[in-house]
Amino acid sequence: MEIINRRKRMSSVARRLRREENRTIGFVPTMGALHQGHLSLVHEARAMCDVVVVSVFVNPTQFGPAEDFSAYPRDLTRDSALMAEYNVDYVFAPTVEEVYPPGFSTYVTVEGISDQLEGASRPGHFRGVTTVVAILLNTIKPDFVFFGQKDAQQSVIIKRMVRDLNFPTEIVVLPIVREESGLAMSSRNNYLKNDERKAAAVLHRALSKARAAYDDGEHNAARLIELVRSTIEQEPLARIDYLSANDTDTFEKLDRIDERPALLSVAVFIGKTRLIDNVVLGKTKKQDAAGA
Ligand SMILES: Nc1ncnc2c1ncn2[C@@H]1O[C@H](COP(=O)(O)OP(=O)(O)O)[C@@H](O)[C@H]1O
Ligand SMILES: [Mg+2]
Repeated sequence: MEIINRRKRMSSVARRLRREENRTIGFVPTMGALHQGHLSLVHEARAMCDVVVVSVFVNPTQFGPAEDFSAYPRDLTRDSALMAEYNVDYVFAPTVEEVYPPGFSTYVTVEGISDQLEGASRPGHFRGVTTVVAILLNTIKPDFVFFGQKDAQQSVIIKRMVRDLNFPTEIVVLPIVREESGLAMSSRNNYLKNDERKAAAVLHRALSKARAAYDDGEHNAARLIELVRSTIEQEPLARIDYLSANDTDTFEKLDRIDERPALLSVAVFIGKTRLIDNVVLGKTKKQDAAGA
């Protein structure tokens, strides 16, 4: 496994693998502090592709001014050991200046669908995400890039960017990996103290109740949302940021969940830590199997 810090080196290694060795490249973008969620993406990349590249980059442009950019957990030594264990071939770990050289002034914005949900709560967040992913895709030019369904809106926005700008890359979205309590794995779970970690299980518990109610025939979005809200409100350490039922592709708000699958998503503060989770309702068996 080689750790690469320079984007020129990353580009030339990737070009050689593609052109001279004719090998398929799978790419997993991360912000490090790796957990089983990331490693599930690495595992699938390893199974699908000849070469696996993982980036570790805490991207400043996707953090708001009052957010946790400086506090975000960083441990490249631990991450590298994990990636070596998972047979990663290249770790791309550039500095901020390497990704954003002096005079940097070009941003990628996916309009409309970047403004709701996470985008409404975190203005500018998705502009930072799409910009850095565009830079990484142009540097590596992978055949496949892997994302997690935990960040459902992010996956849809990146799919749109890749289609609109014709990036020669296929996107693979994989299911949410959870702890035993149901809590979706996240690097930000590192912030949770013991009682908070217990409290954080309420997100998945609440969404699971909605899933069960939906399966029992409740397709009224307001009533499903109310069920999630009342469940989360029973947890004193939890404070809801947003809770919403939206079309999975357009993020249009839904009143009923019938023909088209719906993304039921939440962002919740547990103490000072902001966590997200979601469930897709009304999807077909085939989509289920694909983790879409
Ligand atoms: N619990 C999880 N299950 C599956 N994929 C995940 C999970 N957590 C994060 N990911 C995916 O890992 C990639 C990198 O996300 P990152 O921001 O580094 O992780 P986190 O959100 O946990 O801090 C994203 O595609 C994200 O959706
Ligand atoms: Mg994240």
